[in-house]
Amino acid sequence: MSEMSIRAELPSDHSTIRDLILEVFRETYGSGDAEATLVDELRKQSEYGPNISLIAELDGVLVGHVFFSGVRFTDHPDIPVCAMAPLGVYLQHQRRGIGSQLSMKGLAECADQGYKAVVVQGSLQYYPRFGFIPIGDTNLHTIFKSDHDMVMEFEQGILNRVSGLIDYPQPWRALI
Ligand SMILES: CC(C)(COP(=O)(O)OP(=O)(O)OC[C@H]1O[C@@H](n2cnc3c(N)ncnc32)[C@H](O)[C@@H]1OP(=O)(O)O)[C@@H](O)C(=O)NCCC(=O)NCCS
Repeated sequence: MSEMSIRAELPSDHSTIRDLILEVFRETYGSGDAEATLVDELRKQSEYGPNISLIAELDGVLVGHVFFSGVRFTDHPDIPVCAMAPLGVYLQHQRRGIGSQLSMKGLAECADQGYKAVVVQGSLQYYPRFGFIPIGDTNLHTIFKSDHDMVMEFEQGILNRVSGLIDYPQPWRALI
């Protein structure tokens, strides 16, 4: 029986993570260049808070990855908030709970690191299972102004205390 483990990335994982992002997003959306470059660029900086990058391995082989990085409540820069992206699991390993385990462990790590909330852009069917709500249910908006923007709080009530624009560091702007 294969054994799954999740751990923080090491510098020696960077190229295999890049390969995973390129392949998973190419298979699903036609290209993974923007997502792979985003991670490479975000690793070089942590303007709005620490990066958290976790990998899932099956018998020591990379099968999944998730990345979190700091963003900013423009009107409340004192409240740490992060963004979750990208999240990817190789196609042949999907639908076995790996994406969920990576997400839950990563979200717990974000809370441990002091983030008070997290924002994601993605499937309205997938992310609510972790506690995300549509950003339209709050007084927030992002630079993407997407119907697929969602947020989740780690500290109860924090989303009632914040409003306005969530800003993203420069590497994200290539995705707008
Ligand atoms: C999203 C992803 C990481 C999920 O990984 P996974 O290991 O298959 O996830 P889990 O096994 O924990 O959960 C599978 C569930 O997610 C659902 N799911 C996966 N991708 C979904 C999507 N884009 N939209 C809606 N539901 C999705 C599956 O239907 C399945 O639902 P079920 O539990 O009701 O059967 C994986 O499908 C993937 O890498 N997709 C391509 C990249 C991507 O879209 N990343 C997220 C956007 S940044």
